[in-house]
Amino acid sequence: MTKTKVLVAGATGYLGGNIVRALHGRGYWVRALARKESRLGDNRPFCDEVVEAEATNPGTLNDLVDGAKILVSSLGKHDFKRKPTARQVDYQANLNLLQRAVAGGVEHVVFVSVFNGGALRERGIDSIACREDVVDAIKASGLTWTIIRPTGFFNDMKDFFHMAAKGTGWVIGDGAQRINPIHGADLADFIGDALDDPRSRGQERSVGGPDTFTFREILELAFDALRRKPKVRGLPFWLLNGSTPLVGLVNPFVADLMRSVAALSELGAVAPPYGTHHLADLFLELAAK
Ligand SMILES: NC(=O)c1ccc[n+]([C@@H]2O[C@H](COP(=O)([O-])OP(=O)(O)OC[C@H]3O[C@@H](n4cnc5c(N)ncnc54)[C@H](OP(=O)(O)O)[C@@H]3O)[C@@H](O)[C@H]2O)c1
Repeated sequence: MTKTKVLVAGATGYLGGNIVRALHGRGYWVRALARKESRLGDNRPFCDEVVEAEATNPGTLNDLVDGAKILVSSLGKHDFKRKPTARQVDYQANLNLLQRAVAGGVEHVVFVSVFNGGALRERGIDSIACREDVVDAIKASGLTWTIIRPTGFFNDMKDFFHMAAKGTGWVIGDGAQRINPIHGADLADFIGDALDDPRSRGQERSVGGPDTFTFREILELAFDALRRKPKVRGLPFWLLNGSTPLVGLVNPFVADLMRSVAALSELGAVAPPYGTHHLADLFLELAAK
């Protein structure tokens, strides 16, 4: 039987690497888009083909789609550098891919945005607005779509571990905001399930991991893994809110992150649970290194 061809954008990233593995394991023929093939690392064997191109430059994307029926994109900016901007990457690069998908005969687009993305866009968080604008474009494209809305990723929870390893963990307010972060492998499996299930077409699927914590509990988990007495300090909300405009003058992406954290405190980040990976195991692994 001919395998369904899927194009994965963001394949060199944390989630994209897990997506490549999961979809290859489910019998899909996987084409990975990469700026540099070498960045696929251990995930290279799970790619049937690699196309080196710059999604921000539509001129490099001409043969990209070529026979693919599905586009899965987790491509996005994940640093604090001023250039390229989130508008150029999260929005324009994904829009370039969408336009190639429409022209090239892709049938189904799966796009990874964020949990509560609509509400975060309404609060003026630019990096999220860029992804939500892509969601709007996908819905208007005429293609079949599935929008995935995850909470936080395990990869980003490592920052809590590194704080604890330095001796003091910082939370916003009393750290009572709740989140159920998800491992990249679990999220990739969730995306695989969504692709295999026709009922997910035209749907937005929110998802988090199996365990819910407060941010203070995440830090305590990290201190436990390090076998250290927890030392957790709270950053007052007024300081966060008051300093954001000033920070924005120096670095708009850090200010955006601060606005996200403040909004998250109000909205919460607990989505329907999925998966089998536990944060405690990740922290124990990190502590053993
Ligand atoms: N992190 C979270 O907690 C979280 C939570 C909810 C949703 N999400 C969403 O999930 C997405 C993926 O997250 P992730 O952790 O997998 O991110 P990641 O590891 O940083 O991967 C980002 C991918 O985008 C590509 N990329 C970045 N800048 C680019 C540019 N200028 N031009 C072309 N490609 C570029 C990267 O390619 P290179 O390897 O070449 O740099 C990489 O393949 C995010 O964009 C975010 O919207 C994240």
